[in-house]
Amino acid sequence: MKRKVLGMVLATSMVAATLVGCGGGDAAPAATEPAAETEAPAAEAEAEAEAPAADAEAEAPAADAAAPSGNKVGVAMPTKDLQRWNQDGSNMQAELEAAGYEVDLQYASNDVATQVSQIENMINGGCSVLVIASIDGESLTTVLEGAKSKNIPVIAYDRLIKNTDAISYYATFDNYKVGQTQGQYIVDALDLDNAEGPFNMEITGGSPDDNNATFFYNGAIDVLKPYMDAGKIVVPSGQIDFATVGTPAWATETAQARMENILSSNYSDGTTLHIALCSNDSTALGVENALAANYTGDYPVVTGQDCDIANVKNMIDGKQSMSVFKDTRTLASQVVKMVGQILKGETVEVNDTTTYDNGTGVIPSYLCEPVFADANNYKELLIDSGYYTEADLQ
Ligand code: BGC
Repeated sequence: MKRKVLGMVLATSMVAATLVGCGGGDAAPAATEPAAETEAPAAEAEAEAEAPAADAEAEAPAADAAAPSGNKVGVAMPTKDLQRWNQDGSNMQAELEAAGYEVDLQYASNDVATQVSQIENMINGGCSVLVIASIDGESLTTVLEGAKSKNIPVIAYDRLIKNTDAISYYATFDNYKVGQTQGQYIVDALDLDNAEGPFNMEITGGSPDDNNATFFYNGAIDVLKPYMDAGKIVVPSGQIDFATVGTPAWATETAQARMENILSSNYSDGTTLHIALCSNDSTALGVENALAANYTGDYPVVTGQDCDIANVKNMIDGKQSMSVFKDTRTLASQVVKMVGQILKGETVEVNDTTTYDNGTGVIPSYLCEPVFADANNYKELLIDSGYYTEADLQ
């Protein structure tokens, strides 16, 4: 019965979800009646299709349909190893506590089994909503059955969780746009529309088990493909497909070892590397380490993402050309707002209902805006906004 009731609640909230623009983050959400009292016709029809009407009436009193009414929120983060997740976690905790919620914040050392058991504990420990940044987006199907059976809504944080209908919402940055921003930076930096080329490029992608990684890759490659097709960009290693360029766990050391091999096989004769397309900062750092130790030619355009401190320092030193700034404060605020809207039965603000299908259907999503950062604008973006202090970047 509970499963059916949850289905009604979720179907109702999805029907009620409003589409808002990215800039609409500050707009007050349109308040609606609590989900259990505002069953849309579609949700009713669905419930009736599952069980005889009389049974449905008897089994689904409105009061039962609500998610757990406590105020404890479980926040599962992948790892403390990467700077951004520490910021995501602490921003979420501070904002949730300021809004009056109790928080169970856990980091899983990039270990799937650890994350699964942390989520189990959150489910059994009385959390009313779960916010999960997954390690492997395909490994949480079973544990989230438990959340679903207890009517605990789940928000996928930054990374989509696949193959489970226990996910109510997804909040992230526009991941395809992150890749497009990296690709466009390369086009502009090398003036690819006018320059003759050919320019040599090597690609370092993200972790194959992270749904975001293909969005970053596709966004960048879609911008660069016309120049590759025209022969203005060539890839001397021949490693182009996502499957070939991925970096498991986004590990700096793995990216570094792979780039060292590429450099020694293809560039040790003095061939110039013009472009190092890197999906994020942890992989860019590996590539920058490999360049420092194994390459003496003209320095390439190197892309990244996250504006991690080490990478911003490298941008200032001319060792990384750009990064994509994803203000984790914005994402945390949006997710805290979503948590409040869910728990109060209000309309949950989303701005994308087409892009992110997790294998069970499209998950209503809120996409925050990524922005491009480089040595020219980092002060305004990162220091004036209070994200970092000058001292952080010394
Ligand atoms: C995030 C990136 C991050 C990467 C590695 C991705 O899912 O969107 O911001 O750099 O994971 O942690």
